[in-house]
Amino acid sequence: MPPLTIDADRLWQSLMDLAQIGATPKGGVKRLTLTDLDRQGRDCFVGWCKAAGMTTRVDAIGNIFARRAGSDPSLPPVMTGSHLDTQPSGGKFDGAFGVMAGLEVVRRLNDLGVTTRAPIEVAAWTNEEGSRFVPTMMGSGVYAGIYTAEAMHRQKDVDGVSVGEALAAIGYRGDAPPVRVGAYFEAHIEQGPVLEDTKTTIGAVLGGLGQRWFDVEIVGQDAHAGPTPMELRKDALLAASRLVIEVNRVAREYPDNARATVGHMRVSPNSRNVVPGTVDMTMDVRNARDETLLAMVADLRKSAEAIAAECRVAIDVREVLYFAPSHFDPALVDSVRKAAAALGLSCRDIVSGAAHDAVYMNRVAPTAMIFVPCEGGLSHNELENARPEHIAAGANVLINAMVAAAG
Ligand code: GLV
Ligand code: MN
Ligand code: MN
Repeated sequence: MPPLTIDADRLWQSLMDLAQIGATPKGGVKRLTLTDLDRQGRDCFVGWCKAAGMTTRVDAIGNIFARRAGSDPSLPPVMTGSHLDTQPSGGKFDGAFGVMAGLEVVRRLNDLGVTTRAPIEVAAWTNEEGSRFVPTMMGSGVYAGIYTAEAMHRQKDVDGVSVGEALAAIGYRGDAPPVRVGAYFEAHIEQGPVLEDTKTTIGAVLGGLGQRWFDVEIVGQDAHAGPTPMELRKDALLAASRLVIEVNRVAREYPDNARATVGHMRVSPNSRNVVPGTVDMTMDVRNARDETLLAMVADLRKSAEAIAAECRVAIDVREVLYFAPSHFDPALVDSVRKAAAALGLSCRDIVSGAAHDAVYMNRVAPTAMIFVPCEGGLSHNELENARPEHIAAGANVLINAMVAAAG
């Protein structure tokens, strides 16, 4: 039997339509989790799923599951999905591609009148980005039992709004219990340069980097910018700046795909002629090996201590997220390679530098991911872009791998 193919134009159009919700002037998307724009994106997805004949349910952390029945109701579903939330300067594809590709799989099976044995489910996970609320991959983390919904409901954004309040405000606090999942696939843009640089269409993802996230509070002393001599200052921003340099140094010095980033900083009192007394900042540290990740963190803690002493400030480094490097299911990863080969698509193994809901689904079900190239490897950027033929190719791999798993 020739491999199945999806309707490329319909998938592309759905992505472009979804990208209107929260569209930014530069062509990106700002649809922060659990905002009214997120509600609009969710409502749009649920409407399309219902139109495709699917039944939907919502769980306590707001994850949405849309199901297409199989012929054998005793079988666990074969699931795919990703997230509808974006970064503040997000693009049209990060997350949205995986959800829309799942919907297109169902629409195409409907067109063809194909009934799989196992049900097919499409998930839209809550707060994958971890931008408005920590931690990242919150919805899939609850689903996989890493966190309780109750604990996550208490997490607050920088304005003091809790996840529980935000969920209730958008009407997506449900009560569906988790179900056993037979296999989980996630299609995603690569968000890095490897596939484009090697002119490869499909990445069979072996796993992803482990991550440790930190909240850092630096406390010095507010003081007048004029009369206060340099040697008497307790400048929290100077200390923060030195720590940023150390974060960069550590990521460059360590092996195993080391990455480290300071992406958020709040300076107080943030006034032109006041020596800054307080800085709150984040550190995001990643590595392919758990031991190396730990060594990077130990190095950073030592640097923070030295900087604190030299700048005469207090530096508190508090870990707020940890997950180990992940390794996806070898047989399922191979099914991705096989689907790509059957479709005549170039394919290479790849490791994900980004977090994905697949990381937590991998704890509860055999899991694999399908990457496609994105322009210049750019993501978490309004200019994020992908070619229609690559988007279609990824969804074609997805439909064949899912049908192979669902029977
Ligand atoms: C999520 O997008 C992450 O990798 O931080
Ligand atoms: Mn993503
Ligand atoms: Mn992202």
